[in-house]
Amino acid sequence: MKVLVVGNGGREHALTWKLLQSPQVEQCFCTPGNGGTALLERCENLPYAVDDFANIAEFVKEHSIDLVVVGPEVPLANGITDYLQRYNIKVFGPTKVGAQIESSKSWAKKLMADAGIAIAKGETFTDANAAKAYITQQGAPIVIKADNLAAGKGVIVAQTVEEAQSAVDELMETGFSLIVVEECLQGQEVSILALTDGKTVRTLLPAQDHKRIGQGDTGPNTGGMGAYAPAPIATPELLERVQTEILEPTVSALRQQGINYCGVLYAGLMVTPEGDPKVLEYNCRFGDPETQAVLPLLETPLDELLMACVEGRLAELPPLQWYDGSAVCVVAASEGYPGSYEKGKVITGITEAEKLGSTVFHAGTKLESPRLLTDGGRVLGVTSVGKDFNAAIETVYSCMKAINFPGQYYRGDIGHRVR
Ligand code: AMP
Ligand code: GLY
Repeated sequence: MKVLVVGNGGREHALTWKLLQSPQVEQCFCTPGNGGTALLERCENLPYAVDDFANIAEFVKEHSIDLVVVGPEVPLANGITDYLQRYNIKVFGPTKVGAQIESSKSWAKKLMADAGIAIAKGETFTDANAAKAYITQQGAPIVIKADNLAAGKGVIVAQTVEEAQSAVDELMETGFSLIVVEECLQGQEVSILALTDGKTVRTLLPAQDHKRIGQGDTGPNTGGMGAYAPAPIATPELLERVQTEILEPTVSALRQQGINYCGVLYAGLMVTPEGDPKVLEYNCRFGDPETQAVLPLLETPLDELLMACVEGRLAELPPLQWYDGSAVCVVAASEGYPGSYEKGKVITGITEAEKLGSTVFHAGTKLESPRLLTDGGRVLGVTSVGKDFNAAIETVYSCMKAINFPGQYYRGDIGHRVR
């Protein structure tokens, strides 16, 4: 079987790496891929951008690719699945209407509210003054969100009414015309990534990520500075509730709208101090860096799971098999990230880090053989698996010491909640 993975981040490297472990997968392609996917055996990077649907479709047809797996949300929201399906290509990832679960927060909130799913209460506004009046009435803390995709920059958790009101102005000045204002939920966040064929839902191991740049979860939000799985906060009882009270009703609600959602349904949940799960947001794709922590623990061949979703027979599959142990992924970033940063720094020590007990997923790297160069804000995601979290954390940080590039930054406290 031949698989094409669309994207160029750590998530796509992890997906390709896992797919290549399946006995059925003989060859992978990654478009555009990164330095890590360029170095994988039986994997080839292609030159097409994630939104170059025509060339991707052409390549798939010419090379008899069996399955396309779409990593990032942007091509999904732009209809890559709809486009490829017109050529009878098998695609893992929702169609454009399904991807609205992530690309339109107001659409997703309405779908969930109508289905009786627990979410943060809120309202949608097109008028700044109306939004501000609502904020004054509700008080702080309060959360302001751009309705559509904003590459992680569209959410402001405001501690004061003034901060919330200036966030409304800033988002509107940036060009976001639709804004969601919602109640600020307290508790611990957990990421539940579920696979679905539009009827059946199977959750992967629960994960938690660290969104803030600084030690102790401080400073600006990033795409994610590290992640770990399985997150102990998601007890079997909690997961059962997430399955029956959140994920299954969501898939039913989608189906009632005529949407046969095939792909990942990623629920970003807040577990409230009372122990209740509430949806903060849905994503229409695998989480990054959660995927780099979850996939190393997956024993069931990934291609079988993804194909079962695409072919609408997930219910027939036996329960997912997982390896014992805990996985921790630490992200190495470029100096300046999540602000501006330089690229093109030489990376060394990856082979040594892998010998010390890790798998190094590339997030923003470029191979200019024989040199490996930094090519993004998040550069690497280094994952170790241990018998428990303490063991995994100890190993991963000893591996981090082997890796070097000018301006390298990583947090030293990934997994602090589970030590
Ligand atoms: P999102 O882009 O929707 O994932 O939001 C980014 C982050 O903002 C989340 O991971 C939370 O940390 C925070 N957040 C979003 N919505 C809320 C909410 N209603 N209450 C508290 N925090 C939130
Ligand atoms: N780790 C957060 C995300 O993938 O959106």
